[in-house]
Amino acid sequence: MNTIVVATSNPGKIKEYQTLFPNFLVQSLKDVHYEKEIEENGTTFEENALAKAKQVSKDLGIPVIADDSGLEVDALHGRPGIFSARYAGDHNDEQNNVKLLEEMMGITDRTAQFVCVIALYFPDGKYYLSRGICKGEIVNTPKGKNGFGYDPCFYLKAYHKTMAELPMAEKNKISHRAKALNQLKELVYENFSDK
Ligand code: IMP
Repeated sequence: MNTIVVATSNPGKIKEYQTLFPNFLVQSLKDVHYEKEIEENGTTFEENALAKAKQVSKDLGIPVIADDSGLEVDALHGRPGIFSARYAGDHNDEQNNVKLLEEMMGITDRTAQFVCVIALYFPDGKYYLSRGICKGEIVNTPKGKNGFGYDPCFYLKAYHKTMAELPMAEKNKISHRAKALNQLKELVYENFSDK
């Protein structure tokens, strides 16, 4: 069976991609003992996802999937964007949310979007990119315990709830990641139905 590596250490993501590619063995970086540092110094989600997938694919000689995601706030001209994980320091969700609400204090335009870009890179240089967006608004007071990252600060008008108040199964239907995954699925079926 052919292998696809997903450039992540998150077991949840591996499971999702395994469903998407039933005819491939989907493995994590840990599964294939890939320990090299992965460069992430692009200026867009696309550049980062592609660079990660390309580096690992070239090193291992097999197809690789990588994603990059974050929060873009309109009033902050798209920040924190690609720096979402490191907005207030290093990967500290709570501090990121505190910083976000401080920056948004007194601002009436609260519109924002979650973005997820997925890259699928083949060792011969062929690649596919998909992008999913989920629109919402930044709250004044965080609410909810589900999810991660900025979920407690991200309000979904249609549900009258923050992303962190939605059950995981609901989030997984409407999230930026779900949309990017579905788009990738379409690309895969269009281009690799024989694989
Ligand atoms: P990564 O692309 O998985 O590294 O995510 C980058 C950062 O974007 C995360 O650390 C979060 O701060 C933020 N982020 C991405 N997706 C979500 C989400 O679904 N909910 C909340 N925050 C997210």
